[in-house]
Parts: sequence; structure tokens; C-alpha cells
Amino acid sequence: MLLVKGLAIVSWAVCSLARTLPPGLQPRQDEGDTDPQHICGSIVTAVNEGYQIFLASEAYECLTTVPFNPAVATRFIKYWNETIQFHSTLAYLKNPPEGYQQPAVDVVAELERIQQRVDANSYANQYDFETDVQLLVYAMHDGHVSLNAGILSAFYFASPYEVASVSLDGKQEPRIYITDDVIYAPQEGWTPSPVTTINGTEVNDFITHYAALNAWGYIEPHAEWNALMSHPTLDIQGGLTAFSGGGTFYPGDNLTFTFENGSRVDTVWVAIYGEIANNTGPLTTGGDFYNYFVLGLIPESFDASLLVPPTFLDGDTTEPTTSWNSSSYGAFPDADIVQPDLGIFGGGIVTGYFYEEISTGVLSLPSFDISPETTGNFTQAVSDFIYNASALGINNVIIDLQRNSGGVMLLAYTSFKSFFPDLTPFGGSRRRSFPLANVIGTSVSEFWASLDENDPNDAIFQQQLVADEWVINTRLNAATGNNFTGWPEYQGPVNDNGDAFSLTERYDLANELFDQAAFDQWIPMGYLANATVQGDTQRTWNPDQIVILTDGLCASACAVFLEMMTRAGVRTIVAGGRPIKGPMQAASGNRGAASYAISSLDDDMAYARSIDTYVEEDANATIPEVRESGMFYLSASFNLRDQVRANDTTPLQFKYEAADCRIYYTLANLYNMTQLWYDVSTAAFVDSSLCVEGSTGFSTTNNTTPSAPPKVAAQRPILELNIDNAGVEQLTWDDNPEEGIRSDQFRAASGRTIIRLCKNDRCSEPNTKCETVPVPCSGGEGKKTVKACLPLCSNGQDPSVCSCKKQPSRDNKQISNSKLQYHENFYTGLCIPKQGTKLLGCTYDPIV
Ligand SMILES: *[C@@H]1O[C@H](CO)[C@@H](O)[C@H](O)[C@H]1NC(C)=O
Ligand SMILES: *[C@@H]1O[C@H](CO)[C@@H](O)[C@H](O)[C@H]1NC(C)=O
Ligand SMILES: *[C@@H]1O[C@H](CO)[C@@H](O)[C@H](O)[C@H]1NC(C)=O
Ligand SMILES: *[C@@H]1O[C@H](CO)[C@@H](O)[C@H](O)[C@H]1NC(C)=O
Ligand SMILES: *[C@@H]1O[C@H](CO)[C@@H](O)[C@H](O)[C@H]1NC(C)=O
Ligand SMILES: *[C@@H]1O[C@H](CO)[C@@H](O)[C@H](O)[C@H]1NC(C)=O
Ligand SMILES: *[C@@H]1O[C@H](CO)[C@@H](O)[C@H](O)[C@H]1NC(C)=O
Ligand SMILES: *[C@@H]1O[C@H](CO)[C@@H](O)[C@H](O)[C@H]1NC(C)=O
Ligand SMILES: *[C@@H]1O[C@H](CO)[C@@H](O)[C@H](O)[C@H]1NC(C)=O
Ligand SMILES: *[C@@H]1O[C@H](CO)[C@@H](O)[C@H](O)[C@H]1NC(C)=O
Ligand SMILES: *[C@@H]1O[C@H](CO)[C@@H](O)[C@H](O)[C@H]1NC(C)=O
Ligand SMILES: *[C@@H]1O[C@H](CO)[C@@H](O)[C@H](O)[C@H]1NC(C)=O
Repeated sequence: MLLVKGLAIVSWAVCSLARTLPPGLQPRQDEGDTDPQHICGSIVTAVNEGYQIFLASEAYECLTTVPFNPAVATRFIKYWNETIQFHSTLAYLKNPPEGYQQPAVDVVAELERIQQRVDANSYANQYDFETDVQLLVYAMHDGHVSLNAGILSAFYFASPYEVASVSLDGKQEPRIYITDDVIYAPQEGWTPSPVTTINGTEVNDFITHYAALNAWGYIEPHAEWNALMSHPTLDIQGGLTAFSGGGTFYPGDNLTFTFENGSRVDTVWVAIYGEIANNTGPLTTGGDFYNYFVLGLIPESFDASLLVPPTFLDGDTTEPTTSWNSSSYGAFPDADIVQPDLGIFGGGIVTGYFYEEISTGVLSLPSFDISPETTGNFTQAVSDFIYNASALGINNVIIDLQRNSGGVMLLAYTSFKSFFPDLTPFGGSRRRSFPLANVIGTSVSEFWASLDENDPNDAIFQQQLVADEWVINTRLNAATGNNFTGWPEYQGPVNDNGDAFSLTERYDLANELFDQAAFDQWIPMGYLANATVQGDTQRTWNPDQIVILTDGLCASACAVFLEMMTRAGVRTIVAGGRPIKGPMQAASGNRGAASYAISSLDDDMAYARSIDTYVEEDANATIPEVRESGMFYLSASFNLRDQVRANDTTPLQFKYEAADCRIYYTLANLYNMTQLWYDVSTAAFVDSSLCVEGSTGFSTTNNTTPSAPPKVAAQRPILELNIDNAGVEQLTWDDNPEEGIRSDQFRAASGRTIIRLCKNDRCSEPNTKCETVPVPCSGGEGKKTVKACLPLCSNGQDPSVCSCKKQPSRDNKQISNSKLQYHENFYTGLCIPKQGTKLLGCTYDPIV
């Protein structure tokens, strides 16, 4: 459910500083080790000295010295191929319906091609192999499909300058500007000059191509475009754009911007190192890099006692705030409604604004990704907004979902009910039906059904499993409204588009036990059987008084919320996109119903085997005994269930769902939210001629005859980069892993940051420090103070697990002969757990 690509870097440029500074290119004599085989070693040494930013050229030089091992690659392909069979849209990706805006891709055939290249020894190094795999992942254009693994997780590529795309007057097509110019020019009363070329290419062509390559997980190019651009709602959440922080593929060494006024800026691409300092010990060669990043082995020379964790400060140093104003460079005004503890590292995220002069209220929901204990305060802030707006007699409401990439599914359901207590959303979903999935589902569902609720032992299992993805008995058959009788009823198959699917399921939100297990002990408001007597079932506004604003990046739980709201008749306005006229979709991030971690699937398979003796299904005959990933991964996921409409079989992900109106960002409104909301209010409620030419009439909301979706410009999926391997030698594989630096000490388990209690004030895990911390437990248990082994924060830390502190990044290390500055800030310090778990002494584990 949580949408986090590998990059969890928090950028937090200080307000008084320009966010990008002129690069100080200062050639200097290289004093370091000049053996190209040791470039990785030089980088790691610099990291251990405290540096994080490198020249992209140096990172690339390092990455291409990492050798390739076909046997390991083959194991990984087998593992990922077995996993991706659970991904719900394989058939639709291969054969998309009309209106899908991305090129088709046959994932299984492409994997076959990659395997053939492995067999033919065509990969000169690990970078080439991982690039091929990652391009395939990206070609799926699904934000629920992620793979943060291997050496590609070591660096993120970035431009030291951020860019923004704005129109001068809202009518002219937007042009690209340096973000600082957009922020400061309106304040200082001058007109900035637009960028005309980047890297020697016409700017729109460059951005379109760069976006198609590096903006991960969007179903149309308009959204990919927006993902590269600066935005105040990204600033308040502390994120970096795909252009200035999240590049996956080596973009080249030098970077040049030219401007319409004739001036130019010459700079270099940078690479941000993603691992914790000192975590790897002293790696020297590309082979050492392989052991650490691909195999997950910690070198033998690693000495945990050498680690000096940064000083631990009690709690968070950032003051809670009641306004996003300073973290958005003045873009957000002071709010009328504020969720407690508002802040980048705080628990609050909801704000509300009342503009009585235009009788419009704005509810800003920039994310649904919250820690469980703040669920009540989030929902309360939404209710407060509605109550106060109603008291003021506000006529129209804008729900601002810009940059909302999803999070906790419960918030989609409760937020919907807050606006429409009289309606029940459909919320249907389905998954692929195939032997391995059906064996797991049959075993686990059968096991659940066999449990006796009067037996205390059984009751515990029953509680734990009630919302498990593989227990179908507690979910509703959408066709009948009754519980499924078991997996055989559910698995169908329903044949569709050349593949087999389950029937459509719905959550039984009236089942309190299900709710508690599914939503971390919270009950979504308004769904229990007695809901009608629970309070007010009167809606405050009709659908035509509400408009939702997005930037196309809405994904996952945000897309689920948007679907419920638009089916109720609420209209949408989308902002930004490529500089071409015409419609744009409101939710182009993933529209699936469930993101699923690959590590959870490993657990599910082991679990189904472990109950094999208790059930009739012969799980052990079908389910692999060991799941070996081959390649180490930090996190990896896929989409388990499609969102589907009632009496429909096409996944929502593949339907063309245009916004009712599209507007351009302008120089006046990109960094002035008040101006933007005024513009939205006018376009939605007063004068639809503010909409971009040709952008209306495509929406299916309240419209039985929408215009046909735009044709897809002929394009091929990007599945190969023309990487110039000249100068990179084929490296020979070290067949004797016993020698050299490696040991049996493995890195932390894939995909999870696990925090445990200290034993006798000591920690056995490397890179952790025993500290006393307060941990919030779920289920109303409150905060507990415990001694826990806290890992060090890193740029790649899972932000749903850790609270980390920011620290200004330092200048880059001059490994070769140039110097530059990149002024974004990063996570640092000790990882303070955001939520308590059983391992930390709480009664319940939160379910994320
Ligand atoms: C890495 O360890 C060394 C030796 O203990 C220490 O001096 C250095 O400060 C550490 N680096 C960082 C970034 O913490
Ligand atoms: C991937 O799995 C599918 C389905 O089991 C199989 O047909 C295909 O051969 C596999 N491909 C590779 C490269 O292992
Ligand atoms: C040209 O425009 C750029 C971008 O707005 C600006 O930084 C630069 O100072 C301008 N150059 C001149 C000579 O006006
Ligand atoms: C930038 O230009 C260089 C040199 O022409 C090229 O190698 C590189 O791929 C380009 N980068 C991007 C991101 O287009
Ligand atoms: C990048 O710029 C530097 C300094 O101007 C130059 O020496 C180098 O050859 C350039 N690199 C590429 C790949 O063009
Ligand atoms: C939620 O709000 C209550 C008061 O309404 C407050 O006591 C509590 O600390 C808040 N929790 C968080 C995490 O903000
Ligand atoms: C489904 O089954 C559960 C027991 O597992 C029960 O509490 C619930 O009421 C049933 N729901 C419906 C709609 O029958
Ligand atoms: C509705 O049911 C829930 C759970 O059974 C209970 O906690 C709540 O108090 C009930 N509400 C009313 C108004 O009866
Ligand atoms: C949908 O259409 C109905 C009937 O024409 C109208 O009353 C309602 O206001 C429309 N809703 C919206 C959101 O435009
Ligand atoms: C199934 O496999 C698991 C281990 O994967 C084992 O513990 C269990 O005994 C097996 N069950 C049977 C019936 O063989
Ligand atoms: C789905 O189809 C059935 C049977 O045709 C019908 O009764 C039902 O109302 C439809 N559901 C929706 C939500 O349209
Ligand atoms: C933002 O726009 C509003 C509405 O046009 C205007 O009143 C306000 O002065 C602007 N704020 C800034 C900081 O320019």
C-alpha cells in the first residue's frame, strides 16, 4: 500500500538558501588511487569520511567495474519470474485495451530474453544486467512494482538544479524554468528566462525522454513529466524529484542548460550514495562491491566496534508547526484547520483553508502514508474541516490531492464516508487465478475455517489471520454480498483478456474483527452495521459542490479514494503535464487495490507449507521448498489485486479516466497555493474556459458519452540503453569466494528494517546502538519506553519505519578532478521507530 521507491531521501533545503547554487567547477590534481579497479574503494573510503555526493562519472566508473556472475543472475531471474506470476496485470500489459497510454510489454517474454542474454554471456558487467532488469520493471509503469536491489541501489543520479514547468498566463503552453527562478522571480518582480536546451537536446524532448526513463510507475507521460518537476507539496513532505534526486540510470557526465536569453549553465550530473557510512567496512574493488550489494555479504574486515553512531538526541528536534509556510518557500498560507503535530517529521499532515470571499474551502491531503497512531487525528482533522466549513456556510470544496501517492487504505474509506455518510463505495478487487496462488489460498483459507473459536489456541490464529490476503472466507463475494464459502468458490476462473482471474471480492467492513486486523485496530468510520444510528448520515455537500485537485501522481490508496469519489459524481481537475493541449488523467500512479511485498510472499509460501499437515490441500507438492532470491534486495513488491468496477473485468489501471478539466501551473500559482486554489475554484465552479484547450469532455464522471481517449503516440517500451562499454573490460569472475574480503555475516533481512529490544543493554546486530526510546504501540496501548537497538539512518531507510534527522549534505568529495555543490539535505542519525511492534514489547504488531 505504501508507495516508496528506493529513494527515501529527504531533501530539505533551508529557506534562506537558494536551493541550487552555481557550481564551483574547480579542476584539481587527483591525489587518490588512480587504478580504475579501485574507484569503488575510493568512493567507499570517502563515504566513511562523511561524503555522500559524487560525480555521476565516478559512480558510473565504479558500477561498471562490478563483475557479472551468470549463475547468480539466473537464480534471481527464476525468483523474480516466480514472483511476478502473482502480479495481477501481466495479460493486460501484454495486450492493453484502447486508451492505455503506455506501450505494451510482454513481461514473461522479456524475462526470457534477459535469461538468453545471461546464457549467451552478453552482459559485460553487473550494471548492464541490472539495467536490463530495471528497465523491464519500469516498462510495467506500475507504482506497485518496485525493485530496489543490487548495485543499482548504491547510487541515485541527480541534476544539481531543480526544474519546474509553468505557463506564463495559464493559456500558453508551459515552459521549463530553473525552480529558484520560479520561486523568487514573482517575489522580486522580474521575469525569468526559460530553458531552451538541456544536455544539448531541445528541452521538451529531453524532459520527455528523461521522464520516460526515470519516472517510475505512471500510466501516462503527463504524470511522468510532473514527477520531474518541483512542487511545494513535495517540499512540505521532504521529497526529491525524479530529476534532482531519483535518477536510476547513469545520465552522462556533464550537464548543460541553455536559456532563451542566451546564457548557459555548465554543470555535472551527480550521484548520491545510498548506503550508511561505515556500514560496508573498507570495500576496495568492484568484486567487493558485488559481495556487498549483490550477495548481501558483509566483508570479513568489517568491525562493528569502529562505528561511531552520531550523537543521539532525545526526540525530534524540529518544532511542531501549525503551517507549511516556511517549508514550502511561502507557497502554503497559514491554515485554518491543522492536524496536531504537523511537520515533515511530525505525525500531522492534514490542513484546511477557508476562503469565505469565494465561499470555497480547501482540504489538503498530501498523503495517506501515516503511522497508525495518528489515524484518529487525521480523521478528526477531516471532520473538523467539514464541520467548520459547514458552520461558515461554505458552498464549494476543493480536496487537494497533489503529490498524494497513497498509504493507509483505511483513510481512503473513512475520508470517503466523511463526505458521503449516506453512500457505500463499491471497492471491488480481484487477482490472478493460477495453480501456485490457488494452492496457497486454498491451504490458508481451509486452515482458517478449521479453527475453533472456542479453543483459546485456535482463537489466537483466527485473530491473526482474519484479514490475511489468503483467507478468503472473511471477504465478500461482490456478486452476492455474502462471505465466500472458501477459495474454490473464489478462484473461478474468470477468463479475461487471455488470462484467468478470481471472482471480484470486497472487504467486509461491517466485520469488526476484520477491520481491527486489517487496519491496525482502527475501525473505519461509518461501515459497521449500526453505522446509521452512530451519528450524522447527512452529507454536507452534493457531488457537484466538490472538486478534487490532483497532479496525476495520485496512486494506490489515493487512486482508490479518487475512484470512490468520482463514482459518487465528484469532478476532478488535474494540473500540469506535458506542454501539449488536450486531456490528462487524474490518477496516473498505480490504481491497483493492493501492493504486496515480495518478502511477504516468501513468508506466505513458508506458512502454507508449515500448515500442510493440517489441511487437505497438498501444499508441499506445489510450493517451492526454499525461495532463494539470488540477488540481495532492500525492497521489492508487485500488485496483488486489481481494482475493478461492479460488473466489469478491466482493471482500473487500464481504463482511460480523464480529469474533467486540466489546468496549467503558472508562474503566479506554482509557488502560491492560494492563487492555485483560486484558479481551481474558478475553473471548477465559475468559468470552465480556464481549462486547457481540448481537455474537457473526456471524463466518464456523470457523463454517458465521453469523447474517445487520445491515441497513443507510437512508442516502444524502453528496454535497452545504448551503453557505451568501450574501455570497460570483461571482468573475470573470482571462483574462489573463500579468499578476499567476505564472511558469513549477512546484511539485514531483505526488505525490512527490523528493530529489536536490547539484550542486557547490548546489541548483537551490526550498526545498531542500544538506546532508550519511546515507542507508540497500536491498539490504544499508548507509548512505551523501551531500550532498543536502533539502526543508523541512511538515505535508503524505509521512512515508514524510521524517524530520522536531517543533516545538510556536505560538498562532494573530489575523487577525480572537479568539484561541485549539491545542496539537498539527507536523513541521518539513529532510526527512531515510528511505531511499536511485538518485538519492541507491544501487544500488537501494526499491519501496514
Ligand atoms: C566511520 O568510522 C570512522 C572510524 O571509526 C569514524 O572516524 C568516522 O567518523 C565514521 N564515519 C561516519 C560518517 O560516521
Ligand atoms: C517464467 O515463468 C513462466 C511461467 O511459469 C515460464 O513459462 C517461463 O519459462 C519462465 N521464464 C523464465 C525466464 O524462467
Ligand atoms: C538569463 O536567464 C537566466 C534564467 O532566468 C538567468 O539566471 C540569467 O541571469 C539571465 N542572463 C542574463 C544575461 O540576463
Ligand atoms: C547527455 O549527453 C551525453 C553526451 O551526449 C549523453 O551521453 C547522455 O546520455 C545524455 N544524457 C541524457 C540523460 O540524455
Ligand atoms: C565533461 O567536461 C569536462 C570539463 O569540461 C571535459 O574534460 C570532459 O571531457 C567532459 N566529459 C564528457 C563525457 O563530455
Ligand atoms: C492526537 O491528538 C491528541 C489530542 O487530540 C494528542 O493527545 C495526541 O498526541 C495526538 N497524536 C499525535 C501522534 O499527534
Ligand atoms: C462473514 O463472516 C464473518 C465471520 O467470519 C461474520 O462475522 C460476518 O458477519 C459475515 N459477513 C456476512 C456479510 O455475512
Ligand atoms: C456500534 O457498534 C460498535 C461495535 O459493536 C460499538 O462499539 C458502538 O458503540 C456501536 N455504536 C452505537 C451507536 O451503538
Ligand atoms: C450530474 O448530473 C446530474 C443530472 O444532470 C446533475 O444534477 C448533477 O449536478 C451532476 N453532477 C455533477 C457533479 O456535475
Ligand atoms: C511440508 O514442508 C515443511 C517445510 O517446508 C515441513 O515442515 C512439513 O513437515 C512438510 N509437510 C509434510 C506433510 O511433509
Ligand atoms: C451488476 O449486475 C447485476 C446483474 O445484472 C445487477 O443486479 C447489479 O445491479 C449490477 N451491479 C452494479 C453495481 O451495477
Ligand atoms: C498569492 O496569491 C494571492 C491571490 O492572488 C495573493 O493575494 C497573495 O498576495 C499571493 N501571495 C504571495 C506571497 O505572492
